[in-house]
Amino acid sequence: MTNWPRRVTVIDVTPRDGLQDACGEISTLQKVQLIQELYAAGVPSVEVTSFVSPRWIPRLSDAEAVARGVAEYPGTIGLIPNFKGYQIALKSGVKAVTFVVSASQRHQQDNLRMSLERSLEELRQIHSANEGAGMQIRGAISCSFGSPYSEENITATQVARIARELVASGVSELGLADTVGVGTPQCVSEVIDEVRKALPQIPLVLHLHDRYGIALGNAVVALERGVTRFETALGGLGGCPYAPNAPGNLNTETFVFWMHRMGIQTGVHLPALASTREWLLNALNTSAEAGVAAGEDQPSRHEYDEDLASE
Ligand code: COA
Ligand code: ZN
Repeated sequence: MTNWPRRVTVIDVTPRDGLQDACGEISTLQKVQLIQELYAAGVPSVEVTSFVSPRWIPRLSDAEAVARGVAEYPGTIGLIPNFKGYQIALKSGVKAVTFVVSASQRHQQDNLRMSLERSLEELRQIHSANEGAGMQIRGAISCSFGSPYSEENITATQVARIARELVASGVSELGLADTVGVGTPQCVSEVIDEVRKALPQIPLVLHLHDRYGIALGNAVVALERGVTRFETALGGLGGCPYAPNAPGNLNTETFVFWMHRMGIQTGVHLPALASTREWLLNALNTSAEAGVAAGEDQPSRHEYDEDLASE
């Protein structure tokens, strides 16, 4: 019999993943308001921004101002790609950082413009600078369940090896990300099992992007395996601008609704979340159920879309 968890932690990543490539305009003040409303709805932790190069992610170039605007909240997180990002995050008052690498060599290079080895050096530098500072350092592996590029095959063994390196270099929580929404329940369970075998103690977080609802199926197999921390975004916004055809995140409202229907607590008030979603989509001038990142209208180079088209 499945031992379903009684409670899960929703980490809302709308202000970071949801907005990093969003179509509409949103001001710094509106971003702060969004984060305040998420906390008011009972979300325990919010990825509030990313401290990355404004040249590569111009929409989050107000990262410091946003983070300072919400410095009093617990559970705030900022994504970082390097030591410079860590230094800015530390000054800005976020409680944790997510250090990101990719299981796809090509996505690692396109998104972070450095090798995995170089990333790990940055992480070690961050880890030693953080002694005494005490900010939580989380790790995240993009493309853990598949690459945006058909020539690349990501294996569970590879992901577990990267996970071990991240933990050895100082991360205390590990995110497995389905950056391009290609994971299936079978492969998600295989990767979770392999990572668990390598690192039985490390708390796991699942960061899912969604195609046609498969993210929920993936979330359910992760729940069955005892994963209790999930990253989601309002309205299914989100997507990586440096991964071709990345769809939006698993929708926070849908996930919370499912958890509550399954008798699993989140502490989140669904009606409050729904009205924040409406407010945000209005502010962005985007229709409801965005669900896909900008770029969906471009001709698909994605093998998975081609598979679907031929079915
Ligand atoms: N925060 C703010 N600015 C940063 C930065 C950071 N973490 N890291 C570098 N920069 C600045 C540099 O100071 C430099 O500024 P300048 O042009 O005014 O001199 C500029 O960005 C380029 O720096 P460089 O070290 O040459 O970086 P790069 O161009 O090789 O890019 C990254 C490397 C990692 C900074 C970049 O690829 C990046 O930000 N990637 C993140 C992408 C992302 O967020 N993807 C979605 C989430 S996974
Ligand atoms: Zn993402």
